[in-house]
Amino acid sequence: MSSNQLDTKAQAWSALFNEPMSELVKRYTASVFFDKRLAQADIAGSLAHADMLAAVGIISATDLADIQRGLSQVREEIAADAFNWQLDLEDVHLNIEARLTQLVGDAGKRLHTGRSRNDQVATDIRLWLRDEMDVIDGLLAELQLALVEVAEQHVSVILPGFTHLQVAQPVSFAHHLLAYVEMFHRDQQRMQDVRKRVNQLPLGSAALAGTTYPLDRERVAKTLGMDGVCQNSLDAVSDRDFAIEFTAAASLVMIHVSRLSEELIIWMSQNFGFVKISDRFTTGSSIMPQKKNPDVPELARGKTGRVVGHLMGLITLMKGQPLAYNKDNQEDKEPLFDTVDTLKDTLRIFAEMVGGQADAVSGKKEGGITVNAQAMEAAAKKGYATATDLADYLVKKGLPFRDAHEIVAHAVKAAQAQGVDLSELPLATLQTFDARIEEDVYGPLSLLGSMSERNTLGGTAPTQIVQQIKRHRVRLSAN
Ligand code: ARG
Repeated sequence: MSSNQLDTKAQAWSALFNEPMSELVKRYTASVFFDKRLAQADIAGSLAHADMLAAVGIISATDLADIQRGLSQVREEIAADAFNWQLDLEDVHLNIEARLTQLVGDAGKRLHTGRSRNDQVATDIRLWLRDEMDVIDGLLAELQLALVEVAEQHVSVILPGFTHLQVAQPVSFAHHLLAYVEMFHRDQQRMQDVRKRVNQLPLGSAALAGTTYPLDRERVAKTLGMDGVCQNSLDAVSDRDFAIEFTAAASLVMIHVSRLSEELIIWMSQNFGFVKISDRFTTGSSIMPQKKNPDVPELARGKTGRVVGHLMGLITLMKGQPLAYNKDNQEDKEPLFDTVDTLKDTLRIFAEMVGGQADAVSGKKEGGITVNAQAMEAAAKKGYATATDLADYLVKKGLPFRDAHEIVAHAVKAAQAQGVDLSELPLATLQTFDARIEEDVYGPLSLLGSMSERNTLGGTAPTQIVQQIKRHRVRLSAN
């Protein structure tokens, strides 16, 4: 270690310290190599703070101009990867401030007036996260749109609807996809709601108790495009509940992605053969030449554990912290960064894997999932998916539902014994179970008939689905 490095560290604090920090402790406590990611947010926060300090007369107009000039150079150096990040300066805040002071002298030293790293870091994370959440909002909309587009092309494609992964009733493949649209829409709403609480300004709380300078916090909030000002300084510098809320919302997105992944994996297996995804989302096997594995959905399912793990990390981090700021909070960044990265990548990939990629010239999307409608329909035929429809038919002829249920069980048993579907039993055979059964039974007994009859709001009937697609399209185009 050079004596030069030691000096930098000793100077970061004050004359109070009699010995330099050990190398190990330095590495243990430093955050610069991950929190430098907050640099642009840190500079934006500093500019807003300096602008306000000048507006209320705490620093001069010349100091402000120096700070602005210096910070814009720092910003460029960072963007050009020409900034000399120093471990000795611990974190992104001290690194930027030191460089600023090197560039503009005393004005740089005045920037920290009425501010602490405690309110500074809380502001930086909120600003950074808010902007990332806006990107995520757009990606959630894109994925929904991709699902809606595929749904639109498959309104009357029949899929066996499952409960307990056993064939239950026929549903439209579009209806199934739109279920995920609902999930991702709620995820989007949840994120928008969390954003309101993320986008509040801690700056002006200083270390923990507020400051003796007459700061105009509202002005800073306005400059930074924030919705409001944190109203209690102790709370503002210490709580990370907004990061926890975000990670919880992100976990739900991932859980929904994971459910969809699981379905794609099942649907792609040879025993189902319902869908195919483009080769670029699959990988081969190094030993089995015939394989095309659904690595992307599998990884997304796996990465869900990672994001849920970050949620656990963050809530445990917060638990048991007394007011106000504690260094524990430095541990909020890596899980948060990784959650954002994982979520953005996953959403991008899924939007393309499901909906395809738009051709640069025609704008037409290509390479999304391909659907094997015959395989889906054949599978729906295997499981007596219209048994409930026969029961409902008998109820409409006057039977109590429980009796109808029992009668149909006998009919299914007979069909099973013959290895045929209910719709393949001759009328005479069906009439042995109940004399009220007539020729018109074959309507509801068909898959399409069964599906079309489920015409309640939110049901799988094609007329309902068309309405839902319309609603989603209007909503998503307003996004
Ligand atoms: N790097 C620190 C963090 O991420 C910044 C705040 C440090 N404040 C302090 N009083 N040590 O939380």
